[in-house]
Amino acid sequence: MEIISAIAVLRESLKGRRPVAFVPTMGNLHAGHLALVEQARRHGRCVVVSIFVNPLQFGPGEDLASYPRTLEEDCRQLQAAGADIVFTPGVEELLPAPQQFQVEPPPIAGELCGAYRPGHFRGVATIVLKLLNIVQPDYAVFGKKDYQQLHIIRAMVRELDVPAEIVAGETVRAADGLALSSRNSYLNRAERAEAPRLYRNLERVRKAVLSGQRDFAALESAAASDLAEHGWLVDYLSLRNADTLRPAQPGDAALVVLGAARLGKTRLIDNLEITAGQDHPSDNVII
Ligand code: PAF
Repeated sequence: MEIISAIAVLRESLKGRRPVAFVPTMGNLHAGHLALVEQARRHGRCVVVSIFVNPLQFGPGEDLASYPRTLEEDCRQLQAAGADIVFTPGVEELLPAPQQFQVEPPPIAGELCGAYRPGHFRGVATIVLKLLNIVQPDYAVFGKKDYQQLHIIRAMVRELDVPAEIVAGETVRAADGLALSSRNSYLNRAERAEAPRLYRNLERVRKAVLSGQRDFAALESAAASDLAEHGWLVDYLSLRNADTLRPAQPGDAALVVLGAARLGKTRLIDNLEITAGQDHPSDNVII
C-alpha cells in the first residue's frame, strides 16, 4: 500500500490502474469506513482512500481542532483492509490559498443538518469536487450514515457531469444499534449507554410508518420528545422523501427518517430508510 501526500505523485501512481474506486474520509477510521473500503474493492482494481480533515466543512466553534487524528492506526487498518493507496494531503497541498471558488449546493443543503451547520455542505461539496478532480475515480463510495451528504454529492455529480459513479454504503451499527461514527469517541461512559436512544426512536418511527400511521408530525414530535426527556438537545427529527429529501407526503413510496441531536457536547446523526414491504432495516450491518 502506498501512502501519498502530493497530488502530482498520486496522479502519476494512478496511471494505467483503472477502474479506480475511491473512498474519501476524514480519518479516525472505524468498521463503517472499512465496509466502504470493502465495497470499493468490489468495484475497483485500484482502491484509493483519502484522509483529510477538511477545514471548509467545520463552522466556528465546531470541533476542527479536536477532531481525532489517528493517521498511523488508520494506515494500519487500511493496509489490512486491502486499500492500494492512502492519499493524505496536508492543508498546504489541498488548500494552498484561500478557496475562492466554492460549490454552491441546492437549497436542500440549508435544511436538516444544513440548518444547524451553515455552510457545512458548501465545504463538503467543494472538497469532494476537488478530490474527485484529483483522483478521477470511476467509482466513489459514500456512507448512507451521512444521508443528506450522499444526496447532495449525488446531485452535484449529476448536475456537474462529474464522470464518476456514486456508490452508497450501508450504515454499520454497534450491537445496541448505535451507528458507528468517529464522533462516538467523544462520548463518556454514561453518554455511550444513552446514545442508542436516537436509533431506537428512528426505529419506532419506521415501524409506525410501516404499520400504516400517516400522522408524520405526531411521530416526529413523539420521538423528539422522548430524546428531550432523556437530556438530549434535539436539532431535528424529520420524515422525508428518500429521493428528494422534501418533507414526507402520505403517498410517498420511499421515505427516510433522519435525526440529529446533541448528547452532552457530542452531536450525533442517524437515519433509517423506510420502504414498504421491508419489515426490518436489513440494510444495516450489526457488528
Ligand atoms: O463524510 C466525510 O467524512 C466527509 O464529509 C468527506 C466526504 C470526506 C468530505 O470531507
